Amino acid sequence: MDQAIHPRLTVLIHPLVQHKLTIMRRRETSTGEFRSLAREVSLLMAYELTRDLPIERVPIDTPLEPMMAPSIAGKKLCIVSILRAGDGIASGMLDLMPSARVGHMGLYRDPATKRPVEYYLKLPEDVAERLVIVVDPMLATGHSAAAALARLKKAGCHNLRFACLLAVPEGLSVLAAEHPDVPVYACAVDRMLDDHAYIRPGLGDAGDRLFGTK
Ligand code: URA
Repeated sequence: MDQAIHPRLTVLIHPLVQHKLTIMRRRETSTGEFRSLAREVSLLMAYELTRDLPIERVPIDTPLEPMMAPSIAGKKLCIVSILRAGDGIASGMLDLMPSARVGHMGLYRDPATKRPVEYYLKLPEDVAERLVIVVDPMLATGHSAAAALARLKKAGCHNLRFACLLAVPEGLSVLAAEHPDVPVYACAVDRMLDDHAYIRPGLGDAGDRLFGTK
C-alpha cells in the first residue's frame, strides 16, 4: 500500500529491525541505548541498501587452493548525512562499509518561506561517480530530503538512494513527485505528520534523542 505513494519504496520488514525500532520509539529509552540501536538498525539498513551492488570474480588463494571469489566491483560508495541527525545513521552504515566516503549537508528552514536553505556542504570530489546514500532518520515533510537530492543531482550525482528510519505518507509523496527516480528505504511508514511537522506516532526528535540535547 505504501508503494502506491512511492513506487520505489522498500520498507525493511525484518524482525530484528522492527524490534530495535520499537525500543527506539519508547519514551523511556536512554540516549546511549537509542544511539546504539540507531547504529545497529543502520547497519541492517545498509545490508538491504547494498543488496544489488555489482559483483566481480577475483583470483585469490585460499590456504588450500586458488579460486575465483566474488568481490564488490568498483566499491565506490558515498554516504551523505543530512545534519545533524543523519550522523546517527551514517556511523552505523560505516561499520559495514568502512571505506565509503562521507559527505555532510546542513539545511535550515527559512522561517518566512518554510523552505530548506543550505548552510553547509562538504562532498567528496568524485561524488558524481559514486553510489550516494543520503541518510536522515526522519522523512517528515520531505522538503529537506528533496532539497538534498536536488543539490546532489546538481553536483552531478545520478546514482542516489535515500534511507530513513521513519517516513510518513506526506514526505513520501514529496519525494515521489520531485525525485521519482530515487529509491527510498525506510524501517516503517508511520500514520501522519502533526501540525508541528512531527511524525506520529514517531519517536520524537531524532537529533535530540541521538545526542541527548533535550
Ligand atoms: N524530525 C524529527 O526528528 N522528528 C520528527 O518527528 C520529525 C522530524
